Amino acid sequence: MKMTTKLAAVLLGTAVLGVTGAGLGRAAAQNMDAATKARIDQFEKGPATIDVSKYPAQLQDYYQTFSQKCSQCHKLSRPINSDYVLPDQWSRYIKQMMYKPGSNISGSEAKHIYDFLVYDSSVRKKKALDAKLQTLPPDDRKTAEATIKKVVDNYQ
Ligand code: HEC
Repeated sequence: MKMTTKLAAVLLGTAVLGVTGAGLGRAAAQNMDAATKARIDQFEKGPATIDVSKYPAQLQDYYQTFSQKCSQCHKLSRPINSDYVLPDQWSRYIKQMMYKPGSNISGSEAKHIYDFLVYDSSVRKKKALDAKLQTLPPDDRKTAEATIKKVVDNYQ
């Protein structure tokens, strides 16, 4: 009897957290201006998974972290198909997501997700990444290229 009550409490707690997370996502979605909402809706229409079978093993693990943590409030297709490709963009957005109430993302998980997304952008979004790099002032481009290389080399 006691065990059942305890389990029920745990389950209820999880359900409440889940609802709060989704609720927050929805509340923010309502406050978005129409242009932002249209852009984000477009991201969500794309694929909701990434084929990581050829990615380094460690990054295949980090893909699991990304899939779990970044699909709590919105579809995973949102980050998967977003037009963010630069390391700075990922670090800014991961921080923004991390500091949302109920995000439940630790510092080391954020770092793993960052490495995964920087690597993934250098492979799956290579064309968009190269185009974006070309728009940067030379110094910023060098810094971004060095950052990407460091992340990629770390998993070879
Ligand atoms: C606690 C809820 C929550 C979690 C967890 C979360 N997000 Fe979000 N995300 C949002 C909300 C709300 C928005 C709407 C725009 C905003 O508030 O920034 C959003 C928007 C986005 C956007 C679109 C931003 C834009 O303006 O183009 C991207 C990309 C994104 N999230 C990526 C991620 C990634 C990557 C993770 C995992 C590290 C993540 N999200 C985890 C709530 C969350």
